[in-house]
Amino acid sequence: PKKPVKVLVTGAAGQIGYAIVAMIAKGLMLGADQPVVLHLLDLPVAANALNGVRMELIDAALPLLRGVVATSDEAEAFKGVNVAILIGGWPRRDGMERKDLISKNVTIYKSQASALQQHAAPNCKVLVVANPANTNALVLKEFAPAIPAKNITCLTRLDHNRALGQVAEKLNVHVGDVKNAIIWGNHSSTQFPDASHATVSTDRGERPVRELIADEIWLREEFVTDVQQRGAAVIKARKQSSSLSAASAACDHMRDWILGTPKGTWVSMGVYSDGSYGVPEGVFFSFPVTCEKGEWSVVQGLEIDDFARSKMETSATELKEEKSIAYEFL
Ligand code: NAI
Repeated sequence: PKKPVKVLVTGAAGQIGYAIVAMIAKGLMLGADQPVVLHLLDLPVAANALNGVRMELIDAALPLLRGVVATSDEAEAFKGVNVAILIGGWPRRDGMERKDLISKNVTIYKSQASALQQHAAPNCKVLVVANPANTNALVLKEFAPAIPAKNITCLTRLDHNRALGQVAEKLNVHVGDVKNAIIWGNHSSTQFPDASHATVSTDRGERPVRELIADEIWLREEFVTDVQQRGAAVIKARKQSSSLSAASAACDHMRDWILGTPKGTWVSMGVYSDGSYGVPEGVFFSFPVTCEKGEWSVVQGLEIDDFARSKMETSATELKEEKSIAYEFL
């Protein structure tokens, strides 16, 4: 029998937290044969709600769940964790400026960086979900220098999955037959959803999306805006932000990272840029990656046309701006 893996979820009393804990405890993140111990962190003001989540986890009688630690103490929450899903953060409120959002979260991620470095298991794998996700991941990396940068990632898989979903809807095919979309850049409205390398498996074998959707305008405009604006559309419809799809994407992200991507398939992950594709180093940028034996690597050699290049530059510029705002508060 496998030894339980300790999984930390921060912001566990929130919307995404509520959706993800059961998914993890049902094996959707680490596999159906992998027992888990859940460490749940939220603020003291949410302690009652968090205890309610703990009670429901007990009531769900989940055989893979070998324990729940529910706490508002960072040191206790990070103690010995092998996987950390960081969802907790300062929410964006109406009228709040990006600068304010960044400064509030810089403080939180600076503190969580030291908890991570001091208390987590060596080689802990980290996924930052909370916004601004790329810049929160950067703050975490800067303040946890003992943690290898490759162990820190941020979530753009939701955008990636949205891109697959839009292509599947357009072509009226199963989403499981569509693969290799790419999200480049920031998890924000400047991201560049790119379907130009995506493929669909059909009766006649694997076919490029570009060939099946001859409408170049759709690929460059409607598709790009729809994926960029999908989060806002969900908020408008639900009066709450995406939570089940975000939770599901976070499970996909960790599962592929740890268990590996299928042969011939890549996924999008926000990772510390090594300068691939001319992206500046020193920011967290979403790239196409493949994963094997718990390590991700950026897919190399894809052709980038001028259109894609300019979209990637716009997002890189925004990330450099976010970085300099964050540094004002460090
Ligand atoms: P929520 O507001 O329902 O939950 C956030 C939880 O975090 C709250 O329970 C809050 O008390 C807690 N929290 C705040 N500060 C904390 C701290 N210092 N330590 C621990 N917990 C803390 O928000 P929701 O809908 O669950 O979203 C969470 C975050 O995920 C937001 O920042 C949101 O913008 C982001 N998000 C990111 C997506 C992505 O694709 N990267 C997709 C959807 C949301």
